[in-house]
Amino acid sequence: MTSNKNISSIITGTGAALPPHIITNQDLENMVDTSDAWILSRTGIRERRKLETGLSTVDLSEEAAREALSRAELEASDVDLIIVATVTPDHLTPSSSCLLQARLKAFKAAALDISAGCTGFIYALAVAHQFICNGIYRNALVVGVEILTRVTDWEDRGTCVLFGDGAGAVVLEATREKRGIINFSLQADGRGADLLIIPAGGSAMPASADTLQNRMHFLKMNGNEVFKFAVRVVEETLYRLMEQEKIQAENLDYLFLHQANLRIIEHIRKRLRLPKNKVPVNIDRYGNMSSATIPIAIHEEITAGHLKDGALVAMVAFGAGLTWGGLLMEW
Ligand code: ACO
Repeated sequence: MTSNKNISSIITGTGAALPPHIITNQDLENMVDTSDAWILSRTGIRERRKLETGLSTVDLSEEAAREALSRAELEASDVDLIIVATVTPDHLTPSSSCLLQARLKAFKAAALDISAGCTGFIYALAVAHQFICNGIYRNALVVGVEILTRVTDWEDRGTCVLFGDGAGAVVLEATREKRGIINFSLQADGRGADLLIIPAGGSAMPASADTLQNRMHFLKMNGNEVFKFAVRVVEETLYRLMEQEKIQAENLDYLFLHQANLRIIEHIRKRLRLPKNKVPVNIDRYGNMSSATIPIAIHEEITAGHLKDGALVAMVAFGAGLTWGGLLMEW
C-alpha cells in the first residue's frame, strides 16, 4: 500500500534493449530432441534473443536505462536511486546496480539489486515507490534485466527452449497528481525454492569441478509444478487487488502478465474476458526473459502509441523463490 496519500509515483520514461541475435525453434531442433510444433503449442514461443559473448547484464541494462532516462528527460546525475532486478547479475558481488551507476555516472544515486526471480520488476517498482512516497527520494531508475541464456542448460530440452535475454527500464518519479501507483501486493513462499533453482555457485554449493561436471550451474525447473502455481497465484493476486480498489476487470485498459507461457496468459485473459489488445504478448518473439518481460512489454505499448495517460494498468508476475506479486497504476 502507498505510504503517503499525498505523494505517489508515476512512470515518466521507459526503455528496452534486446540483443540482435535470434535463436529460432528451428535452431533448437538442431540442438536437442524437440520440434517447432511442440515448443509453439506448449509455450507459444517462436524465437528468443541471445546476448553475444563478451557482453553482460550491465551492458544491456545500460542501453535500456539510457533510453528510459532520455524519454523521461532526466539527467543521470539527478537520479536518486537505481534498482536492478535480476537473477543473472554480472557478478555475485558487487551488485549490477553499482556497476550500472558507474556506467551512467549517476553518482548521487543509491544502488541495490533485487533477486525475486520473474517477479523482480514488480518487487523493484514497489520498493522504489516506497522511497518516493516517503519523500526520501524524488525519482528512481528501475531495471528488469536477464541474460538467462548464460544459465541455460543447452542439453536440457525441458528448459532450453523457454528462455531469452533482454532488459527493460523505467524512470519512476514523485507526483502529487491523483495518478501513479495505486496499490501493490508482494508475496513469497520459500517452501517452493527447489522448484526453480540454480543449485551451484553460491555459498551452499561453491563452484568446483564436481558442480561443473554435474551441470549444477544451470537453471533447474519443475515446469509442471510452476505452471500450476502460476495459474493459481496470478488469478488470486489480480482479483484481490481489483477487489481492494473496487475495480472491475472490464475497467482495466492493460494487463501486463509475466511472459512465461502463452497458455497461462491466454487462460487468465479469457477468465477476465479481456480482449487481446489489453493483454500484450511478447513471449512469441522473446521467450521468457524473467524480470525483463513486463518492462519490455510496457515499453513496446508506449512506443507503439497505444498506452496513454490515464490508462488503468495492472501487472502480475510470478517466479523463482517462489515469489509473486501484482501492481495497479493509473498511467
Ligand atoms: N520438446 C519436446 N518435448 C518436450 C520438451 C521439448 N522442448 N520439453 C519437454 N518435453 C516432453 C517431456 O519430456 C514430456 O514427455 P513424456 O510425457 O514422454 O515424459 C512431455 O514433453 C510433457 O512434458 P511436460 O513437462 O509435462 O510439458 P508441459 O506441457 O508441462 O510444458 C513447460 C512444459 C512448457 C515447461 C510448462 O510446464 C511451463 O511453461 N511451466 C511454467 C514455467 C514457468 O512459468 N516458469 C516461470 C518462471 S521462470 C523463472 O523464474 C526464471
